[in-house]
Amino acid sequence: MNTGIKLLVVADYDSVKDLLQEALASYQQVEYTTSREVKKEIDRIGPQVVLLVQPEDGSGVELVQYIQSELPEGIIIFLTEKQDFVLLRDIVRAGAVEYILMPDELSLLTDRLDKISELMQQQQRKRGTSVSGQAFVRGRGKVYSFYSGKGGSGRTQLATGFAQSLKLESTARVLLIDLNLQYGGAETFLSLDSNRTLADLIPVMHEMNENHIRNVSQRENHSKLEVLLSPRDAETAENMTEEFVSRLIRASRRSYDFVIIDLPANMNELTYTALEESDFIYYVMNLDTPSVQIFRLVEDLFRRLRIDTAGRMEVVVNQIGRDNELTISDLKGLINAPIAAEVRRDHRGVQAAVNQGLPLQKEANEKKLIPAAKDIRKWVLKKLS
Ligand SMILES: Nc1ncnc2c1ncn2[C@@H]1O[C@H](COP(=O)(O)OP(=O)(O)OP(=O)(O)O)[C@@H](O)[C@H]1O
Ligand SMILES: [Mg+2]
Repeated sequence: MNTGIKLLVVADYDSVKDLLQEALASYQQVEYTTSREVKKEIDRIGPQVVLLVQPEDGSGVELVQYIQSELPEGIIIFLTEKQDFVLLRDIVRAGAVEYILMPDELSLLTDRLDKISELMQQQQRKRGTSVSGQAFVRGRGKVYSFYSGKGGSGRTQLATGFAQSLKLESTARVLLIDLNLQYGGAETFLSLDSNRTLADLIPVMHEMNENHIRNVSQRENHSKLEVLLSPRDAETAENMTEEFVSRLIRASRRSYDFVIIDLPANMNELTYTALEESDFIYYVMNLDTPSVQIFRLVEDLFRRLRIDTAGRMEVVVNQIGRDNELTISDLKGLINAPIAAEVRRDHRGVQAAVNQGLPLQKEANEKKLIPAAKDIRKWVLKKLS
């Protein structure tokens, strides 16, 4: 039995969820969501099999169609408590491979899942890839968002530095997206200058693919890191839709191994959409009381917006220096989130790089890095290992 299959359970009632949790106890990769949340989470989670329990509002057929269109290779099993011939016929027509009546047929479920995972392994073998072997599985890139509720904490510096180092130190395909739609920022730290911006992708948003992205992205000179620059225009920013941001991120993750997103501090629908679509959030923070206070407000806001950060958000401490108001151990006592990296303050080094129009790191395994760049590289290598 292969219990490594990636499952997503969509269930609205706790009683059903409990029942399934028990039935799926031997599976290691099971995530749970509700019919309300599934549209936002499906792409990020990228399950192989979706167990969809008939939603309370009866939107089962529509959800099956949606999941099928977002996950063409995904397998959908529909679970329901009522035998309803018309519904079940429509469900199967919409793309579910199977339906199971609960609780009577629940024992069939693991049996079906075993068969499915066996078939999947056969297919994988045919394609010559192992299920877990590949370092970068095509089609499912990781999306990392850099966020902070406080302006000027160093998001752009770290997001650009991280993306650059990741590109230099690996063979992965990396895309940086600057979602600071009004003011930009990435162009300054990477010395890019172009009229082409991510707003040029709006007209093709419904069929967006790798070529469209390539045609619009700019390449950093040293690393060839691809960057989608900000339009830096209030009106364009104003008119951008959540649907565009969501499609942009989904198309990017299909074409790149890593998608790094630099986000603005203000929380609006677009920032929210990007955070929802991200696999991981790096929250950038400085060692002072205002940073801690804002972090708490953001945690609270995330809770209210139902942005699930469990296991999905880490803090990056930036601007570490001798005159910090707090120490790292003070910070650990004040917040619960794990700390992913610590980056030193390095005014002279960073200023010099910005003034010369040079990125913090220019080649792989570079020897003479300034302290901040060393810290970022160390963090990237840890992430890659
Ligand atoms: N570790 C560091 N050492 C020295 N200077 C730094 C460091 N990190 C960031 N800076 C500098 O601090 C300033 C703010 O950084 P940055 O623009 O990355 O912050 P931000 O959070 O993106 O701000 P904004 O809210 O404007 O988007 C920049 O001038 C940057 O060069
Ligand atoms: Mg910024």
